[in-house]
Amino acid sequence: MDKTSDISIVRNAAQSLLDCADDFFLMKQSVDALYNVFSRITGVSPAHIGTDKDIMLPSGKAISPSAAAHCLLEMKRTAVFLRGIHQAILQKIENNTSGPIHILYAGTGPYGTLVIPLLYLFTPDKIQVDLLDINPVSLEALRKLIDELQLNDYIGSVFCEDATTFTLSRHYDIAISETMLACLKSEPQVAVMQNIIPQLQPEAIFIPEEICIDAALTNPKMEQDRLLYYENEAPPFRRIALGNVFAVNKQNLDTDRMQKTIEIPDEKDFPVLKLFTTVKVFGSEQLSENDSSITLPVNFYDLRKQPTLHIAFWYVQGEKPHIESRVVCKPALYQTEIMNSL
Ligand SMILES: C[S@@+](CC[C@H](N)C(=O)[O-])C[C@H]1O[C@@H](n2cnc3c(N)ncnc32)[C@H](O)[C@@H]1O
Repeated sequence: MDKTSDISIVRNAAQSLLDCADDFFLMKQSVDALYNVFSRITGVSPAHIGTDKDIMLPSGKAISPSAAAHCLLEMKRTAVFLRGIHQAILQKIENNTSGPIHILYAGTGPYGTLVIPLLYLFTPDKIQVDLLDINPVSLEALRKLIDELQLNDYIGSVFCEDATTFTLSRHYDIAISETMLACLKSEPQVAVMQNIIPQLQPEAIFIPEEICIDAALTNPKMEQDRLLYYENEAPPFRRIALGNVFAVNKQNLDTDRMQKTIEIPDEKDFPVLKLFTTVKVFGSEQLSENDSSITLPVNFYDLRKQPTLHIAFWYVQGEKPHIESRVVCKPALYQTEIMNSL
């Protein structure tokens, strides 16, 4: 395959992901086309998962190059991030009268999936990107990709650094990082946001703009039926919304505020408390329930164990970030407390 045809495959796939709305056939075709080019050039593919290594950081796990490559194939995640980032770039270019806009992409993986496909839609005098990843193998693969796809004119500095401690040495209009799992478990997304956002100018855009965790009581049969039936044939479906547990965004980066106590209503038909992750990428582009692995609902607590009065949730940071809770049960003779963690 020659360079020119690789370049046109990447350009067409990017445009198609921006334009294809919810046409999953086109979406799949486009991420597969990107994957074929990126895996062939870099030599990194999800087939190597398990043979290369994650890096364990004090703030969470930085997943291996092959696992990071696999993220590309999560088609709706990739499409929605590319659409949000494309809109953010357009907005910044429109408001910028002098020189290119500057982007920091932290946690690139070996393919730079969330930025590389978009570059052909702009010229290097409009957009300049600095790249950062903790994993040197990923960065080496990405350099190869950038060379082969003739994208060097768009790239500024390449940092092999920890995004949770990295000091920004210049102004950025946009910073991007997707280093997360559902319920903000295991990976260092929150720590990355806590480090980078305060170093940005107030008008800079951080992507994703917000990550929300919400709670609801659910009925296991209704939840199962919902996945089994077509929407118009499904039996009645209901959940008991319990509201927002916490959100992480520009205004809320303090771990002490990532907590909430939620009263549990007496709803015997809805015994399973689930947590739902929503990722607001930019503007109206967002990922919600079941759109991707990073927004999969999580069964958090089964109230059939013991009738429950309220549950206090809080977020724990460190090597294994996770949501923890204290479940306060209804007194039979005395009130009991159960610790629960995800
Ligand atoms: C979930 S993958 C995402 C890859 C790609 N950005 C995408 O969205 O398809 C996360 C990437 O971030 C990197 N990473 C995770 N934590 C990091 C940290 N603290 N500093 C720098 N890179 C980090 C990992 O090495 C991995 O390449």
